Amino acid sequence: MVDDEKNVRSLLIAWLFREGFLCNEADDGAEALREIGQTHYDLVVADLRMPNRHGHSLCQEILSQGDRPRLVVVTGVDDPRLLRDLRSRGVDHIFQKPVDASEFVSRIRELTQSSASSIHVSGSRSRAASRSNADEHDTGEDSRMPAVALLLHDMRRAQELAAQLKRESLLPFVPESTDALCCLAESRHLEMLVLENSRFGFLRPQDLVSHLKSSTALTEIILLGDENAPPGAVSGGPSAPKVISRHASDAEVVQAVRGKIAAMNRSRRTVSPQARELVRPFASLSSAQQSLLKLAKFLTLPESELKPDGLADEVMADADATVEILRLAKGASAGLRGQIGDVMDAITRLGVTRSAALLVCSGIKGAEKPLLRRMPLPLREWYQRRSALNAAFAAAFAQKYFGLSGDVAFIQGLLQDIGIAALGATFEDRYARLVSRARACGPAHLHVVEREDLRIEHSEISAALIEQWGLPDEFVRTVRFHHGPKAGGTETLQVIDPMRIAESVADLCDNRHACRRQDFFQQLVSCCDGGLEESLGGLEGAAALASEIAQQFRVPLSDEPLLRGIFRELRDPAASTAI
Ligand SMILES: [Fe+2]
Repeated sequence: MVDDEKNVRSLLIAWLFREGFLCNEADDGAEALREIGQTHYDLVVADLRMPNRHGHSLCQEILSQGDRPRLVVVTGVDDPRLLRDLRSRGVDHIFQKPVDASEFVSRIRELTQSSASSIHVSGSRSRAASRSNADEHDTGEDSRMPAVALLLHDMRRAQELAAQLKRESLLPFVPESTDALCCLAESRHLEMLVLENSRFGFLRPQDLVSHLKSSTALTEIILLGDENAPPGAVSGGPSAPKVISRHASDAEVVQAVRGKIAAMNRSRRTVSPQARELVRPFASLSSAQQSLLKLAKFLTLPESELKPDGLADEVMADADATVEILRLAKGASAGLRGQIGDVMDAITRLGVTRSAALLVCSGIKGAEKPLLRRMPLPLREWYQRRSALNAAFAAAFAQKYFGLSGDVAFIQGLLQDIGIAALGATFEDRYARLVSRARACGPAHLHVVEREDLRIEHSEISAALIEQWGLPDEFVRTVRFHHGPKAGGTETLQVIDPMRIAESVADLCDNRHACRRQDFFQQLVSCCDGGLEESLGGLEGAAALASEIAQQFRVPLSDEPLLRGIFRELRDPAASTAI
């Protein structure tokens, strides 16, 4: 969204956000061109009269690019010659101000959809006409399609699967050997690797994958093997490998590939390349942390699929997770009386969700340590208090007001601001000064100050980091959009609401300015049916619950007296002393 008038930009972005579009903004043509050079955009909306670089020159530049975004002009300029010129050059649509919201949004939707389908259709056509063998060189159109390599012992089956993937508008490759696969990975980016989970000559699958990781950083992996056996040390790509049975039908394998590609596309829209780049130094995990964090998948399962033996099998397959669950269950904070027999006993008595959440919490605490070490001390202490508040209040509100699992909300609350730790570890004192400014200024939101100063906000960084750590896609999306407004596809992520209330509690602890109190009231009223009075009456109960949950997770709240004062003030504004 390119416009030098902030109000216009914000309004148009708000219309599009509500319809599920993700927007970035620039306030002049020069800045817009820098942005377009760094990130792929589907569509650019540009004003004409702007400083630094006039919109007409910006449009000319965009239109001269080969694989250009769609281009829409929104202007108050009423010069028929100029507008005719822009149309003749290929601008996709021109809106004259004032603009009608529904017309604007529906035209943008048409343009983005037609842009996606034109790539899809022409891609299929070009393949049908020119490609009989998947190993031929790419055409321009093919280079836009997700490339999938299939390395199986049974070459005939691999060829048959490749034929089916072609019909799904994917670009399959069937290397004849591990050497051929490595050459292929060096010559082009592979979105996905379908790999049989057994030895290829001297190479184990994990050796192959670790070799490939150096050339194809983001390759997702589907392992064809024994479903009940863990994928062993195979890890690569932004999320854990998906294991499907070697006896699965071809249709099931194709379905799994399509599912992973769809998740990747969703995640690409969620996390920007800049955020991924920033968290790269913090992406690696020890094997113990990996095995704890991968248990987060148990926090996304429906109630009917939560079986103690399922979790116990995974925990017992890993020595670190086994030691950790027994340690946690025997700890005083778990509230269990009597001797704990074994892993199954611990999980049954704690409950599957609580057990998985405790283990994931330990994994997060371990993974976070290198980040904390690099943060300036006062910033680190503030961040740790804030993250405990976020987690405990997200859990308490989720449980008390939304009927959701407090354990699941606790973990997402713990993750929502982890980007602050990554920003603190990266920018150190510069970021510490930014945080001090945001805390001292009542009306300021930290994420807005971050965007103004660093051009990125901590929710994006949190999402990028937990994506790299292999946490579930659903967590990545809630964390990414926890500052709102809700983007497309997040309607089902109910836990976002308690996460937002929790963050407004943390913001109030920093500064009790009237704007922050107002923010908190708005969050509270928007999600509690009983009206403000009733919601405020329940606050102390929520605070007590938050404190109890935090103790159980051994992430205690250190701001309790402060919180009691704040909640008293919220109920009785006359008692307010701080502005
Ligand atoms: Fe946040």
